[in-house]
Amino acid sequence: MKGIILAGGLGTRLYPLTYVTNKHLLPVYDKPMIFYPIQTLVKAGITDILIVTSGPHVGHFLGVLKNGKELGVRHLEYAYQEKPNGGIADALSLAEDFADGENITVILGDNTTDADITCSINKFKDGAVVFLKKVSDPKRYGVAVFDSKDPEKISKIEEKPKNPKSDFAVTGLYIYDFHVFEYIKRCDPNFIGRGELEITEVNNYYIKEGKLRWENLDGFWSDAGTFDSLYQATDYWSQKKG
Ligand code: TTP
Repeated sequence: MKGIILAGGLGTRLYPLTYVTNKHLLPVYDKPMIFYPIQTLVKAGITDILIVTSGPHVGHFLGVLKNGKELGVRHLEYAYQEKPNGGIADALSLAEDFADGENITVILGDNTTDADITCSINKFKDGAVVFLKKVSDPKRYGVAVFDSKDPEKISKIEEKPKNPKSDFAVTGLYIYDFHVFEYIKRCDPNFIGRGELEITEVNNYYIKEGKLRWENLDGFWSDAGTFDSLYQATDYWSQKKG
C-alpha cells in the first residue's frame, strides 16, 4: 500500500499565520502539523509516500522533511497542485502516476489522530473505506447518512449539510482502490457550488457502486485548519506527551 498526504489548499482560515508558511508546516505542539499524518502512515507500515502541495510556500517542505528518512519514510515524493484551492479530489488526482494501479491510503495534511489504522489497511482488498467520528458540529464536515433499513450502511454522504442527518463526520483518512482516479475524472466542480472537486462526490460514487465501507476512527482525531481546532489539537498532543 502506498500513502498520500494532501497538503495543498491556501489555509485562508489561518491567515495571518499562513502568510508566513504553508498551513501544514505550522506547529501542533512540538512538531510541524504534517509530521502527524506522516507518523500515522509510517506506524501503519506505509513508507512510500507522496505529498501533494501547492501555494506560495511549497519550497518550505523540502527544508523541513528533506527526504523523509528522519521520520521513517523510505521513499518520499512531492507533487504540485496547480490550482491551490482546486479541491481535495483535484489534489488527489495528481497521485495517479504515483499510485500506479495500487491501493492507496490518503490522509489530509491537517488531520492529526492517534488512531492505529494498521488493521484496516492490512485487511483492505478493494472499494473504499472511510473513517467516521462522532462530532458535536457535523455541519463543518462531510456527514454520513445511514440507510433507514440498514443502519450499518451509509446511503450517501452530504457535504457541509445545513441539517445534518447524523453526527458522524467523515474524517480526512481514506483507503481507496485504483477506481478512485476514474471517479475523480467524473467530478463536477459545482457539486456544492464552490468550484472545487469534492472528495465527498468521489465517496458517493463508491456508495453507488456498493463499494464503500466505513469504520469508526478510535482515539483522538481533529483537523487543525481553524484557530480553534489548531488550539484543540495542540492542547491534546501537549497533554498526551506530558
Ligand atoms: P481545507 O481546510 O478545506 O482547505 P484549505 O487548506 O485551503 O484551508 P482554508 O479553507 O482555510 O482556506 O482543506 C483540508 C485539507 O485538504 C488541507 O489540509 C489540504 C487539503 N487540500 C488540498 O490538498 N488541496 C485543495 O485544493 C484543498 C481545498 C485542500
